[in-house]
Amino acid sequence: MSQPDRYAVIGHPVRHSRSPFIHAQFAAQTGQSLSYVTIDATPTDFERVVRDFFAQGGKGLNVTIPHKEAAAQLADELTPRAHRAGAVNTLAARKGGGLLGDNTDGAGLARDLANNHRVSVAGRRVLLLGAGGAARGVLAPLLGLQPSQLVIVNRTVQRARELAQEFSDLGHLQAMGYDELNGSPFDLVINATAASLSGELPALPAGIVNKDSICYDMAYARDETPFVRWAHERGVARAMDGLGMLVEQAAESFHLWRGVRPDTASVLSALVAELRQA
Ligand code: ATR
Repeated sequence: MSQPDRYAVIGHPVRHSRSPFIHAQFAAQTGQSLSYVTIDATPTDFERVVRDFFAQGGKGLNVTIPHKEAAAQLADELTPRAHRAGAVNTLAARKGGGLLGDNTDGAGLARDLANNHRVSVAGRRVLLLGAGGAARGVLAPLLGLQPSQLVIVNRTVQRARELAQEFSDLGHLQAMGYDELNGSPFDLVINATAASLSGELPALPAGIVNKDSICYDMAYARDETPFVRWAHERGVARAMDGLGMLVEQAAESFHLWRGVRPDTASVLSALVAELRQA
């Protein structure tokens, strides 16, 4: 019997990644024969480990923190959305050799907002927290949804300014520091900082939300993330984490690799149940 096609997620740390669970569910659901594991690689080892994986016949990798920008450098060809983001979360072996780099994070966020949470971005005032790789990956798709206003706020203001400048051809963007945030509350606040990962919160002024605001944390955790808790404590009725985005970006990667689009709703429910049990 032939070996199943090999896939993995590469990151550092990566042990707690839910991607193997998600892709195993997608494979079972669509009748695809594949294996999917985690690979921990430090930044120093990243390129060698990726090249070895594909040299040994691996078909595709998901790339996560902190390697997304390095993966964009390493790919032989980038999809337009990966090129725009300057970051890659999906690598695929090309038929004729070499690696294709894609970025499915932004599409994952857009799908999660629209399909799983029924949140419309069009005409809304949106605040994006953070100006790192995670923020870069979602800026173009967010602007494509045509918010009335999009503000990038970052601890290091200069990084926010650079991002606003880089994406200025796609729509009007403002950049500022947390202490400059004032005025009326935002309709949608998206946390793209890495703060949740270390149990921290950006220095958020209370006035940026009211009970009708929607708060979205691109990070996820078994319990409430600090940002989701912060939102609930301020009376925000709708605050959610990025578990749905994780499943949606995975589905986009699976589609690129296998040519079939899995159903995400059932896998998201299974993932929530699995996390609650853990
Ligand atoms: P990623 O690829 O996850 O975005 P990154 O490029 O290192 O990682 O960016 C991390 C982001 O989270 C940055 O916007 C960072 O702010 P700075 O640019 O000022 O460093 C933000 N961040 C991380 N920890 C934070 C904290 N405790 N409070 C506020 N912002 C934080």
